[in-house]
Amino acid sequence: MTIFRDACHYNNNSSVQTTEADYLIKRLNLDLKYKKLLDVGCGDGKISAAMSAQGAAVYGIDVSEEMIAFARQHFPECRFQHLAAERLAEIRGRFDVITSFNCLHWVKGIDTALAAARNRLKTDGIFFGLIYPRCHDLWDAATWVETLPAYQTGSATFSNPYHFYTRDIFEERLIQAGFAQTMLWQESKQATFASREQFKNYIAGWLPHCAHYQASFIDDWLARYMVLTDQTESETITMAYDIIYFTASCTATDVCSE
Ligand SMILES: C[S@@+](CC[C@H](N)C(=O)[O-])C[C@H]1O[C@@H](n2cnc3c(N)ncnc32)[C@H](O)[C@@H]1O
Repeated sequence: MTIFRDACHYNNNSSVQTTEADYLIKRLNLDLKYKKLLDVGCGDGKISAAMSAQGAAVYGIDVSEEMIAFARQHFPECRFQHLAAERLAEIRGRFDVITSFNCLHWVKGIDTALAAARNRLKTDGIFFGLIYPRCHDLWDAATWVETLPAYQTGSATFSNPYHFYTRDIFEERLIQAGFAQTMLWQESKQATFASREQFKNYIAGWLPHCAHYQASFIDDWLARYMVLTDQTESETITMAYDIIYFTASCTATDVCSE
């Protein structure tokens, strides 16, 4: 799977992800000054850097070497390490704040990763972030395109690395991992893209099919998406999506330990 190898493309085409992370950070309105913060799946590092600008000492980890190299080069004010979320137990020390934006739906060993995150959180710390549940038009379009003759051969070897969680299921996973005081809520949002090209760049930055199938996939996908969302005549494109935000912590009486 080659998604998240082009950090520069991601950096230039992730305004939706950035807007959502900013929205949550502002909404929680936490004082990050002098806080030791771990950003799980930090990607290109720009959200880590934004939290560092608020005074946090940020340590970002990501499974993509390319993302980590980009983050190190562009945001030297943070520390970054190439590490999978499933291996968080290898990190020393505890954090006041652990974040994960736009990432946990990609993590295969989610239970291991969440349990390790919990153990890296200080007793009075907070874990927060966001994931996306299944966005029907978007994924339905991809599934439909895969049935076209041009993609039949490739479909035999395609396995979708994206995990679809509902709000309730993700909350269960957090609780199973030992988190308490969980708060999760889902919002329906829209993002508008000024051109088809801009929208394609955003989608190609993360839709796993685009990394697996031939280059024509994104155009076929867009054509189908426009039909499903009744936007065939439009140059600007509006994407509706749902998003799950979460916060969690240890219980007040609980010491987070391994
Ligand atoms: C959509 S990007 C989000 C990056 C950044 N947090 C943001 O919001 O812009 C998802 C990131 O999760 C990372 N990722 C996927 N699976 C991971 C795993 N198991 N452990 C750590 N990072 C992972 C990817 O490499 C990618 O950089």
